[in-house]
Amino acid sequence: MIKKDQRNFLIVATSVLVVVALGVWFAIAGGSERNGRIGGLPLGGAFSLTNQLGETVTDEAMRGRYMLIYFGYSFCPDVCPAALQVMSQALDHLGKRARRVAPVFITIDPERDTPDHLKLYLENFHPRMLGLTGTPEQIKKVAKAYRVYYRRVDSPETTNYLMDHTSVYYLIGPKGTFVTHFNHGTTARQIADRLADIL
Ligand code: NI
Repeated sequence: MIKKDQRNFLIVATSVLVVVALGVWFAIAGGSERNGRIGGLPLGGAFSLTNQLGETVTDEAMRGRYMLIYFGYSFCPDVCPAALQVMSQALDHLGKRARRVAPVFITIDPERDTPDHLKLYLENFHPRMLGLTGTPEQIKKVAKAYRVYYRRVDSPETTNYLMDHTSVYYLIGPKGTFVTHFNHGTTARQIADRLADIL
């Protein structure tokens, strides 16, 4: 038998715990990136693009492996080369475990990033880096699926143009669903540590 005031205390304590637990659960569920969603909205999806060897690559062909995807363009003066360097180093840090991860670079500048051009450009980075290009429509579709923003920026001083674009790394799981993302500025070591937890 427990006294009445003890029982009241237990009821109050239990209620507080339930409220706290619910709060934590909502916080986690609300910010969850599981099940191919971020912020409650689906992210990623099917694509059919052309690699640097001129071969068609679909998202389905990548099943069974993780994909670490970055959207950018080879003429990018600084942001993209730095990001591709980070991706390459992150995979180096992972050692043998990196074999489960396909590093993927999807161009948002398909006019200039032809397969041949991507092939030359990507020789500067990880040897397994997959470069993907396509028609402007194909690129538009995949960028939209990943909610990647990009825009051509012309300059009056030069005939070359720049591209404004989102700089985010996306991790896609072996079943083709979105797992997590890394913001610009995440270090290679941070990405490698997180991948080591996930793989
Ligand atoms: Ni860039």
